[in-house]
Amino acid sequence: MKVIKNPLQMQKIALLTAKKGKSIGFVPTMGALHEGHISLIKKSVKSNDITVVSIFVNPIQFGPKEDFSKYPRPILNDKNICKKNKVDFLFLPDADNLYDKNYSTYVEVNKYSQFMCAVSRPGHFKGVTTVVSKLLNIVMPDNAYFGLKDYQQYVIIKKMSADLNFKTKITGCPIVREKNGLAMSSRNKYLTPEYKEKAGNIFKSLLKAKQDFKSNKNIKSIAADIKKSLNKIETAIIDYVEIRDWQTLEAAKQSTKTVVIAVAVKIQNVRLIDNIVCSK
Ligand code: PAJ
Repeated sequence: MKVIKNPLQMQKIALLTAKKGKSIGFVPTMGALHEGHISLIKKSVKSNDITVVSIFVNPIQFGPKEDFSKYPRPILNDKNICKKNKVDFLFLPDADNLYDKNYSTYVEVNKYSQFMCAVSRPGHFKGVTTVVSKLLNIVMPDNAYFGLKDYQQYVIIKKMSADLNFKTKITGCPIVREKNGLAMSSRNKYLTPEYKEKAGNIFKSLLKAKQDFKSNKNIKSIAADIKKSLNKIETAIIDYVEIRDWQTLEAAKQSTKTVVIAVAVKIQNVRLIDNIVCSK
């Protein structure tokens, strides 16, 4: 595995790889790799000749009161995980390399950036789409892999890639969970073991909602039931519980056939998100 820090060097490698007729799979991450990230890496390694993983804690997608400076950065462990999982290139740019002093170009997908996580994290998706565009231009992958855990992020990136004619095919991958159902996240480290256990109830409430949706229960009651059960978790502060069309992310109607039920909740002041796609 080669570690590359310089964006120009990474781009040269990508061009050479394409010239040789080899396909590139790409997994962008912010590090603190866990089984969720590893599932994306495995998928890329299986389906492409060359796999590139990037680790970059992107400053412009964090709000001023968010955890940018304390975001975990266990780089040695991350490198070992990548090596073990047959990553060919680990791209580790410095913030100065991606955003120089006069940096002034941003990418924003308007349509999907005004609800759900966008409300409590203003500017977050603009930061994500900007860095992902830059990374796609540097790595020039045939395929890029994103987790459905960040469902809104996945839909926004897919739309951006289509709208801006990126050649990359965007693939969404299933959510990997802890034994108790809690969606794996680099932020789960901030929870005490006791609250990690309690946070398993987020998924339990989503599973119940999936059953209720299947049997055509009123969607407002489904959302209300989820809120009730989340509120039973000590310290929980609900950000949102939303039921939306799984593709357009428009607010679901009772007649919508397939929806995503998405939640964001703070437990012990740690913001957790999860979702489930349900059909009638
Ligand atoms: P990060 O949170 O490190 O996540 C990197 C990728 O791993 C994302 O596509 C995310 O959805 C996926 N992922 C995280 N937890 C997962 C889980 N439990 N199951 C499946 N996939 C999971 O998302 C980001 O970084 C950043 O916003 C990024 C896209 C890299 C841009 O900076």
